[in-house]
Amino acid sequence: MDGTLAILGAGRMGEALLSGLLRSGWARPDAVRCTVRSPERARLLAEAFGVRADTDSPSAAAESDVLLIATKPQNIRALLDQIAPKVHAAQTVISVAAGVPTGVIEAALPGDIPVVRVMSNVPVQVDEAMSAVAPGRHAGAVHIATAEAIFGHVGRVVQLAEEHLDAVTALSGSGPAYFFLLAEAMIDAGILLGLSRDVSSELVIQTMVGSAKMLRDTGRHPVELRESVTSPGGTTIAAIRVLEQERVRAAFLNAIEAAKRRSEELGGA
Ligand SMILES: NC(=O)c1ccc[n+]([C@@H]2O[C@H](COP(=O)([O-])OP(=O)(O)OC[C@H]3O[C@@H](n4cnc5c(N)ncnc54)[C@H](OP(=O)(O)O)[C@@H]3O)[C@@H](O)[C@H]2O)c1
Repeated sequence: MDGTLAILGAGRMGEALLSGLLRSGWARPDAVRCTVRSPERARLLAEAFGVRADTDSPSAAAESDVLLIATKPQNIRALLDQIAPKVHAAQTVISVAAGVPTGVIEAALPGDIPVVRVMSNVPVQVDEAMSAVAPGRHAGAVHIATAEAIFGHVGRVVQLAEEHLDAVTALSGSGPAYFFLLAEAMIDAGILLGLSRDVSSELVIQTMVGSAKMLRDTGRHPVELRESVTSPGGTTIAAIRVLEQERVRAAFLNAIEAAKRRSEELGGA
């Protein structure tokens, strides 16, 4: 990494990013500064990662080239008020706060600050995040590239216009929860069929991992992959008939549309 990075609001998301960036070697501990509210949390971060960590966001903002804001959406306003006098247009501001538009961040900061908004997801904790980056009004290619470099070290990244971020929130932001729910339901099914919870969990989780790897690594369409394990008159088609009768496909369409509507509502709140 060229320059210095401040992670402002280094909670779960900030720590996962910090850990991934240090592990990959992209950032050195002496080039990263973290801030939080609690001195105890700052001490733990400094001990665990060898970075400078404290509660002084204005000073971290003043001395860093890239400011990565990772507070909860309800806390971002207070943070922006704290750092606004120290921020200048040569810096890049990146926000992961869900549902907070770049316009809100730009308006809270002086001048024409380049702001990039990112919607990531919880697999950031295992370097398998799916992140979408969207530029604000003053962000150019170099600022987007900085955000892509950061999030590219903890998973995959797409660039989209900000208007699509509610859809991203509904699909990949909330997406892990849908897979966790599916895993839970399938594990229960194994128990119903007489398997122990441990065995059922292992069967389901490894099946999910293997299926996800096939989807990602073979590049084959989901329909093609599903058809390849659906033999005529067999077990899979018997299960699929029930899933179709129970309108599982329609339920996913409706559920994800509802999540997008909720994201829009929260963004406007
Ligand atoms: N977790 C995920 O996987 C995930 C996925 C997608 C998006 N996001 C987004 O990432 C953001 C953070 O989520 P999270 O789960 O990481 O939340 P979190 O664990 O609560 O972390 C937020 C951190 O912000 C710190 N903070 C709050 N106000 C501050 C201020 N004024 N100055 C400095 N630090 C401040 C808190 O400090 P203290 O610890 O001292 O209170 C805390 O460490 C959210 O906006 C969320 O929408 C998270």
